[in-house]
This record gives sequence, C-alpha cells and structure tokens, in this order.
Amino acid sequence: MNKIDLETEKIREPKDYLEIESLKVTYNQRGQETLALENVNLTLPEASIGAIIGPSGCGKSTLLNVVAGLNPSYEGKVFLNGKTPQESNEVALILQEYGLLPWKTVWDNVRLGLQIKGVSKGEAAERTEEILTQLGLLQLRKRFPIQLSGGQRQRVAIARSLVLKPELLLMDEPFSSLDALTREEMQELVLKVWQENGLTILLITHNIEEAVFLGHKIFTMSPCPGNILEELTNPLAGDHEARGKVEFLELTNYLRQNLRGRE
Ligand SMILES: Nc1ncnc2c1ncn2[C@@H]1O[C@H](COP(=O)(O)OP(=O)(O)OP(=O)(O)O)[C@@H](O)[C@H]1O
Ligand SMILES: [Mg+2]
Repeated sequence: MNKIDLETEKIREPKDYLEIESLKVTYNQRGQETLALENVNLTLPEASIGAIIGPSGCGKSTLLNVVAGLNPSYEGKVFLNGKTPQESNEVALILQEYGLLPWKTVWDNVRLGLQIKGVSKGEAAERTEEILTQLGLLQLRKRFPIQLSGGQRQRVAIARSLVLKPELLLMDEPFSSLDALTREEMQELVLKVWQENGLTILLITHNIEEAVFLGHKIFTMSPCPGNILEELTNPLAGDHEARGKVEFLELTNYLRQNLRGRE
C-alpha cells in the first residue's frame, strides 16, 4: 500500500459521532436527591446504530434526554460531532407516546417542524411528500392521528423527525406498545431509514431481540445509578436473516442472563 492509499484508509475510518465521558446526572426534587447516572462512558461511530438495554429505572431516558439537549444540568462530557447537546441542532428524539398533534392531519404533523424552522412553503411540501412516500404514508396524509393504527402513528412520528434531516436520531422505547409483528415491521423500517439516510441512531429498548437485530453496538446498563456495564460489537446487526441464526439465539441468551444476573 503506498502513502496515498494509507491516507485514504485513514480518512475512511469511521469517527465517533457521539462521545460521552464520565457523565453524571443527579435529580433534585423537593430536597430529595436521586443519583440517576454515574460515570457513564459511551462512544457511537458515525452512521451506526447503538442499542441501549437495561433494567427499568436505570437511567436510560435520563441519558437520552441529556443527549437530546433537554437536560443541561449534567456533569461530565457529552459531544455530538464535537458540539455539546445545547449547541447541536442536528438531533431528533422520538418518544414512546409519539407526540403527534391530534388536531392536525398526518401531512400537517410532518410539515410542522419545517414550518417552525422557516423552510419555504414549496420546499416544505416537497420534503414532506418525499418522506411520506419513503415511509409508505402518502395515502394516509389526510387522516388525523386518531384514525391511524399504533404502527402507522409511530411511522408518522419517525417521518416527522426525518423530514428535518437530523444527523442523530434518538429513540426511547419507540415500539413498546406495538404487537410483535408490527414491531418487527418497524425494526425493518428503522434499518431501511438508516440505510437510505446515512444517520447515526441511538435506540433504547427493553427488547433484547430488537437490540440484537438493530444495534451495531449494544450497551448494557446497570441498575440505578446507571452506568455502562458492557459494550458489545454485534456482527448480526442489520442482517435480515439474523433471527433464524444460532448466533442470534446465543447472543440474546447471553444478554438476557447478563441482565437477569444483575437485577
Ligand atoms: N424528573 C425527575 N425527578 C426526579 N427523579 C427522576 C426524574 N426522572 C427520573 N427520575 C429518577 O431517575 C432514575 C432514572 O429514571 P429514567 O426515567 O431515566 O429510567 P429508565 O431507565 O428510562 O426507566 P424505564 O425503563 O422504566 O423507562 C429513576 O430512579 C427515576 O425515578
Ligand atoms: Mg425510560
């Protein structure tokens, strides 16, 4: 390999999009302190999917809220592409309850963020149509959220985030209220969205199979105060046939035992 090749190789090496070092979060409510996160260290390469699993109450949502910039009172370092969560304008957070406005149609729910950002009417319409088409929602554009199934609502919530072209997509247990089959469809959709948009995704899930199907990196958290107990690089992530493989069963069993052993 000559010098130029070596330099190109260096450039191709994926850099970390998200860097968290010694993160600590304490909640203070009516004089009572709760240490929610302590010494959390985590890195996630650009254009990869990270999955966080951990017992209830261990601080997963707390972690995501810090990264989303919703909780500025944290200690430690959190950088998104070199910027603090407060400086970064490139994050979208999808919550379990979808957060759709019930009095607006699918089309208007998806377009709203662009309107707020001051994108011109023509461009907003173009981008809304593009993303609704990508997620198979265009024919539902005139419906209101109440006229949609849970899976469809979740797709609208994803569309609403993606239309803003975020660099980092955060998802907090996005599919927990969906039935098993719809859930698997949504997981396939996340893979498609990831492939087509070149995003970095950080996903919280209670579902170990979901973590193994989607997460290039899987982070296991300890009970409260949460920290990262283990970080696994997962070769099965994004493999459509993964669920039928022995390695898939082995890895899910390993993670399940690991989590149970700590509870
Ligand atoms: N606003 C708050 N004020 C005080 N304590 C809080 C607040 N939000 C969360 N906590 C506490 O911090 C800890 C972590 O909560 P968090 O919501 O991050 O957990 P989680 O891992 O997302 O749980 P779950 O899996 O049930 O969603 C819990 O002990 C919780 O009671
Ligand atoms: Mg939570």
